[in-house]
Amino acid sequence: MGASAAYAALIRGSARQIALYDIATKKVDAEVLDLAHGTQFTGSSQIMGGSDISVVKGSHVVVITAGAKQNPGQTRIELADVNARILGSMMPQLMEVAPDAIYVIVTNPCDVLTVLAQEQSGLPPERIFASGTVLDTSRLRWKLAARAGVSPSSVHASIVGEHGDSEFPLWSRATIGGVPVLEWEREGHPRMTQAELDEIAIGVRDAAYKVIEGKGATNYAIGLSTAHIVEAIFGDKHSIMPVAPVLTDFHGLSGVALSVPCIVSASGATPIKETAFSEREMRLLTESATTLRGVADSLRP
Ligand code: LAC
Repeated sequence: MGASAAYAALIRGSARQIALYDIATKKVDAEVLDLAHGTQFTGSSQIMGGSDISVVKGSHVVVITAGAKQNPGQTRIELADVNARILGSMMPQLMEVAPDAIYVIVTNPCDVLTVLAQEQSGLPPERIFASGTVLDTSRLRWKLAARAGVSPSSVHASIVGEHGDSEFPLWSRATIGGVPVLEWEREGHPRMTQAELDEIAIGVRDAAYKVIEGKGATNYAIGLSTAHIVEAIFGDKHSIMPVAPVLTDFHGLSGVALSVPCIVSASGATPIKETAFSEREMRLLTESATTLRGVADSLRP
């Protein structure tokens, strides 16, 4: 999946230099060549890589995608044990070669791994965060946009919480062109009911299972989501998106990495504490936090 993120970053021109690192030498060399062979047709980004960690030396942004992937029917949380070990062995080396980088953790369960990696590295929470529910949010916007008859970029709705089974949409804040989602209607696009929205949310939550069932893994959309996050950092864009840094008193939640609306800029990700949650949404967020805290606790030495 790392190669898909590199591919997305290459064709979108997200970074000046892109370096791929993998312990599998032949594989990483081949991915780098395959990407480099297309650079006549992309922007001016340089692509390089290899199986020596020094290839990422001095990086401004490090995106971590290494680890076991979900098998059909497997949850992201079931990967926690094996991927925590992989990440735990990589972090010290990465901190040595790229101590000033901003770290984006995509390996699943990305939110659980973020809290462990933040503790291990001692990085300030804003400089290490999970890609979280940026992808789930794109899935939600795609569905709502099709139903409403507008472009996904005109839909403002977010998935928050765990990047996984306990995630949920912030329906109380969702709008389409400024119109609350339940009030939106146009010719050929009648009003949506809450039951219909709930169905859409279930489809979004289970979307990755469907893709994994059909093709073994998800890669294109998560690659694009990652490129989008990286661009917000390099461009110091102050874009708002639901990534997952370790929270400090976010509506009373601390010490757990959860996706909530954050400002993403050159300094990293800062949660927007003013985001209002309905009572039900706050209960769901707290449940997500309890689930993830339990998994993280089970992995600490
Ligand atoms: C997905 C993986 C990245 O949701 O968790 O596609």
